[in-house]
Amino acid sequence: MPAAQFLANFPVDPADPILSDLQGNILKGHGRQFTFNLFLSFKAGKRKEVGNWIASFSSVFVTTARKQQDETQLFHDERIPGSIFASFFLTAEGYKYLGVASAKKPTDPKFGIGMKASNAALKDPNPATWSAGLNGADGVIHAMVLVADADIHQARSLTRAIKLSLATKATVVAVERGVVLRNAEGEGIEHNNYVDGISQPVFFANEVPAHTDKWDPRATPSLMLVADPGGKDGNSMGSYFVFRKLEQNVRGFKTQEKETAKTVFNLPANEASWTPAQATQAELIGAWAVGRFEDGTPVMLHGTAQQPAMGHLENNFNFADAGSDSKCPFHAHIRKSGPRTDLAGADFNKTKRLVRRGIPYEDKPRIRDAEGNLSDKPEDLPTGGVGLLFMCYVANIANQFEFVQQAWVNAPDFSQTGTGKDPLIGQPTDLSNAHPTQYHWPTDYGAAGRKDARFGDFINMRGGEYFFAPSLSMLKSLRTDPPALAKVQKTLALSTVPKLGVPVGILHDTSLFHFDPNLVSGVSVLDPLLQLFVPDKDDVGAGVVNTVHTEHTVNV
Ligand code: HEM
Repeated sequence: MPAAQFLANFPVDPADPILSDLQGNILKGHGRQFTFNLFLSFKAGKRKEVGNWIASFSSVFVTTARKQQDETQLFHDERIPGSIFASFFLTAEGYKYLGVASAKKPTDPKFGIGMKASNAALKDPNPATWSAGLNGADGVIHAMVLVADADIHQARSLTRAIKLSLATKATVVAVERGVVLRNAEGEGIEHNNYVDGISQPVFFANEVPAHTDKWDPRATPSLMLVADPGGKDGNSMGSYFVFRKLEQNVRGFKTQEKETAKTVFNLPANEASWTPAQATQAELIGAWAVGRFEDGTPVMLHGTAQQPAMGHLENNFNFADAGSDSKCPFHAHIRKSGPRTDLAGADFNKTKRLVRRGIPYEDKPRIRDAEGNLSDKPEDLPTGGVGLLFMCYVANIANQFEFVQQAWVNAPDFSQTGTGKDPLIGQPTDLSNAHPTQYHWPTDYGAAGRKDARFGDFINMRGGEYFFAPSLSMLKSLRTDPPALAKVQKTLALSTVPKLGVPVGILHDTSLFHFDPNLVSGVSVLDPLLQLFVPDKDDVGAGVVNTVHTEHTVNV
């Protein structure tokens, strides 16, 4: 399908050739349990080597949308899990470093100046207070690699290999680790225990839910894909990518939920004396702050959690009914960040949607019970060190992410005068709680009465950046030297390779992986489980194809 038509069309044809030059995770989440985001600052004077490295790495590891589709199908048909997943992103500074011609660069102005330039507009904390590596003190961020896998050891070993192979060319200024948290039903949750990732734009026919009369999530790829001017042709596409590390004060959220419930519902001060009905009622406060109960049940449709008949991951609702705010207050996170019918023209709101791909992080491990579930004892709940690595893909940073964060989430008078900032993620955050925001809460589910009580300021924004996920052909074009095929003279059986400490790889390009050429003159294999290192056919010169062993493993 021609590119213009592809961008404007629903559904995406999973067989469309455009998917072969497009990075994965954009049209559909990669779904892996463990992730590593490596933030790279390239060393001065290494442009050529860095370009070669990116081309080699991308040829072998970057997962295209095509490959992701094929693996999804394989999993569906044969239950064969997908291989290790990787994406590569550049910042505007990265493009500059690599000397990419203006005509080949992404043009979004916000991408061009980076997230720090929007610090005041987004009401974010001063970058000097951001996490190490993300704050710029260790070097400007040029690029990011996302590595994801179901097996933490695989993801970690590739992360380690990337670090080692880049040692002379880049500083890895930060590594952010994500781990999917799941509830008892196996659904992905965020640290406050709420199921996350339910309401998403849908691009494939097989993802359209059964009922869409109240809210239709269908979207066309123009929502987050743009032409990649650096790609091989008009069918090359990329996407802007927003990264924000949002630290969560879980204990603060859970404690305030109960305190606010006491005020709003006149519950006894001593929580231990609450009846089960009162405890259930108190859960409404958290659900009203989010817009869904912990199990995902939308408050717009139900006043208590667990509505199996309805399907608690239901997304077919809107806010058009009069008095809808007695069921889902205007301030609810999902209503502030996705107002659906609250503004004239749901179509306008739909152009603001984000393709969310966040994952929880746990720099400080959560306390878990014997079964491995998160402890919910108040004293075990973290006040920091955990949170969400918020990530989303958009076609236009100002019109989508920044618009949502500024004009909706942070704006106290959106969507009504006095609604308040988003109680989950609104900025600025007053962590001292000196000026807590008062919100208007219904006095009961569906009740006309309102009572004001405080909430919020449980998020500490720890850093972020704007990236572009270029087409695969753009990344491959960064190679200035042909692969060093001459160096591949023989292929060793891996059993003869001494322990190298890292997976040995891409044997035709000594720049990619760190190995001692005196010990190994050329190997073309590697991890046979995942076949990680089988070279891309484009990168193997005619007549110099290496033997690919799949029967040996290298210890890592
Ligand atoms: C720690 C940070 C965050 C947490 C804990 C969080 C949590 C949640 C939860 C539990 C939901 C409901 C489930 C779902 O529909 O997926 C949700 C929905 C959503 N969130 Fe967040 N979120 C966070 C940050 C953000 C940020 C930074 C944005 C954008 C600026 C955002 C935008 C959205 C949107 C657009 C929805 C879907 C609304 C809808 O269509 O119903 N979230 N979030």
